[in-house]
Amino acid sequence: MTQNPLHKKNIILGVTGSIAAYKAADLASKLTQNGAIVNVILTDAAAKFISPLSFQSVTGQPAYISADLWGAEAHVLHIGLARKADALLIAPATANTLAKLARGGADDLLSLTALALGSGPDAPLLMIAPAMDAGMYSHAATQENVEILTRRGAVFIGPEEGHLASGLVAKGRMSEPIQILEHLRYQLSRSGPLKGCHITVTAGPTQEDIDPVRFLSNRSTGKQGYALAQAALDAGADVTLISGPTHLTPPAGTRLIHVRTAIEMQHATLSASKTADALIMTAAVADFRPAQPAEQKIKKAKGVLSLPLMQNPDILAAVNQQRATTLMPKILIGFAAETQSLTSNAEDKMRRKGLNLIVANDVSARDAGFAVDTNRVTLLYADGHQEELPLMSKLEIAAAVIERAIPLLNPQENV
Ligand code: CTP
Repeated sequence: MTQNPLHKKNIILGVTGSIAAYKAADLASKLTQNGAIVNVILTDAAAKFISPLSFQSVTGQPAYISADLWGAEAHVLHIGLARKADALLIAPATANTLAKLARGGADDLLSLTALALGSGPDAPLLMIAPAMDAGMYSHAATQENVEILTRRGAVFIGPEEGHLASGLVAKGRMSEPIQILEHLRYQLSRSGPLKGCHITVTAGPTQEDIDPVRFLSNRSTGKQGYALAQAALDAGADVTLISGPTHLTPPAGTRLIHVRTAIEMQHATLSASKTADALIMTAAVADFRPAQPAEQKIKKAKGVLSLPLMQNPDILAAVNQQRATTLMPKILIGFAAETQSLTSNAEDKMRRKGLNLIVANDVSARDAGFAVDTNRVTLLYADGHQEELPLMSKLEIAAAVIERAIPLLNPQENV
């Protein structure tokens, strides 16, 4: 199954002397929970804000300080750490550390290790989350250092606007640990099996206006679609996520297109499909919309409303029709939400909409379908074979679907 790209990755987390150093413990803990092996290096200034023991406790790995350079393994420590590293993440990174890295300084364990990692396309990823006072960040010297490091291939995240230790509200705050983690996850996924593939995913419900304040919609939360976007990104694909209204945060690295109505979703999907290798349609598109939405709010004094509806376009069928000329997307994957005759209804939809694969789920089950974190699905393929998956989380189902899509996509051709 495609996996979280952080799984079993060796990450060196460099922590430098900023008040944001306390947040680095949370980051180290989250990285570890995502399956990464995290070795922490603190600068002397960082060790004044937080102790190595805090990091050792959450990572289960040793955390180093510069004095370790002069210990028994002194001559090999930085080389050993650098040799097995998949990435060096420096969070928080102070202005002094940026200056040192840009110059190639090597007077403590962290800068020594950064230098030992090498530079160029074969060097491990260097990701930097700066944290400092706004004036220090905007200073020409710091900006030049950021530029030098970016040119050398370093990836920056933040800093963000917010409350700074000086009392200012300005740009200088370290990005939140969860954002840093998700960005690192994205960066580490880029060489996955779907590298070079463009996958479009639709998610969530649509809303069909009755009047300026009311609409028709459904119970979709978008969870399965957002999970598919994450799984496709994890496998290395470039992902466009076309989303109806949801409360979810899109995974880092997605190109997000917000839509509200079925008609808007159809426009966005037809357009993105022209260059997509695969379209995965998880959205719960409203099948009907009010034939004539009222321009003004409908007043209750007018009595009980009778609401004439008209049919919305079938987006998958429209994409299938378009691909007769564009020859894209190469594969179409649909979802079938059923309350009865699951496989025969799903097979019928697969045929009508020209799908390569349909994921059928019984939305009447309490542990599957809308607004829950789990799902139980059957996969039906165009060649007639079927595969029943056990009860799984929506993320696991997403990973399983992407896994099945890889051979259908022949990604080597795109690289
Ligand atoms: N779908 C679509 N356009 C629509 C309705 C559905 O593209 N107007 C897509 C869904 O995103 C899903 C698949 O078609 O991938 C099946 O959706 P579903 O709601 O199960 O089926 P319907 O086509 O609406 O058919 P029915 O009303 O018979 O269930």
